[in-house]
Amino acid sequence: MKQYTVAVVGATGLVGRTMIRILEQRNFPAHELRALARAHSAGTRLPFRGGEISVGELTPAAFDGVDIALFSAGGDASREWAPVAVERGAVVIDNSSAWRMHADVPLIVPEVNPQALTDATPRIIANPNCSTIQMVVVLKPLHDRYELCRVAVSTYQAVSGAGRKGLEQLAAEQRGETAASPAFPHPIASNVLPQIADFTADGFTTEEHKMIDETRKILDLPALPVAPTCVRVPVADSHSEAVSATFVRDFELADVRSALTDFPCLTLIDDPAQAQYPLAATARGRDDVFVGRLRRDPSTDRGLMMWVVSDNLRKGAATNAVQIAELWCRLKEQEG
Ligand SMILES: NC(=O)c1ccc[n+]([C@@H]2O[C@H](COP(=O)([O-])OP(=O)(O)OC[C@H]3O[C@@H](n4cnc5c(N)ncnc54)[C@H](OP(=O)(O)O)[C@@H]3O)[C@@H](O)[C@H]2O)c1
Repeated sequence: MKQYTVAVVGATGLVGRTMIRILEQRNFPAHELRALARAHSAGTRLPFRGGEISVGELTPAAFDGVDIALFSAGGDASREWAPVAVERGAVVIDNSSAWRMHADVPLIVPEVNPQALTDATPRIIANPNCSTIQMVVVLKPLHDRYELCRVAVSTYQAVSGAGRKGLEQLAAEQRGETAASPAFPHPIASNVLPQIADFTADGFTTEEHKMIDETRKILDLPALPVAPTCVRVPVADSHSEAVSATFVRDFELADVRSALTDFPCLTLIDDPAQAQYPLAATARGRDDVFVGRLRRDPSTDRGLMMWVVSDNLRKGAATNAVQIAELWCRLKEQEG
């Protein structure tokens, strides 16, 4: 198998560290791994394949010879550095929101829309928002059978979705301290915040707009009505979502269960009588999306309600990005 030179940009962050673990766990064909971050983090040692790698400074020359650059350093860094990486010959797989809605940038969840990456030509490929990934994984097999016509979702998002600062704020407040550099506009310990990112003029947040726009792009349903409310909860890892979907064609719950069970990367946990349903603690450290609490929506025809949970740092970010890289490698090798 061909071996690649891989760079991880933002290697010291929560997603970057998880990417390095996942490259190792999935035995990604990398003969060289370059961990990159800003100058102040250069020299940080990170575990990899039983040894350690040293973080290097993000410079243009750091991309020389790189085949695949996995970016998880925020939107500003992606806007500045992705074109540099591309110019130096790398394909960029970007975790930020910087490129997701560009018309010529594929936005990929490999189990859902691999056909949007038909060849290895695009030089920037975008990884969707974490809340969107876990929702579209559940919607896709149902849309294929029953044709989706509306989705409403309320999220319960972990603090690690806001990076290191989010985890640090929760930990500080749980110790009874005030975070030195808070990630959220209010205390998060013992609290629930109906705000993720900034508000826009229509009363939604930019996180909610990502769920609307990215769901439409990934499912190739540009007019799909999507009604999201994104909420931050005092949980370290794994996002939970209450999803209500409405379909054109009617369904039997038994069929819904088999559609979900048969879909790759989905695990159904649905035995409410035994208090069995997906939990943040179930999903933590795992790559699947977990779904349960399936029931008909009594307020509408052909409506289905579900509870969906996934590890935001893994399938919501790092695992999905590495899977995109694997897909890109397969296409590249087919091209010869
Ligand atoms: N956390 C999630 O669940 C999640 C899910 C999906 C997507 N994402 C996206 O992934 C990205 C990283 O998130 P995270 O949670 O890992 O954040 P994080 O823990 O705060 O880490 C941010 C990383 O980016 C680096 N960085 C920050 N500004 C930089 C700059 N101007 N130039 C170069 N490197 C810079 C930091 O490195 P140094 O400070 O060491 O230089 C650090 O390694 C964000 O775009 C985020 O939206 C996160």
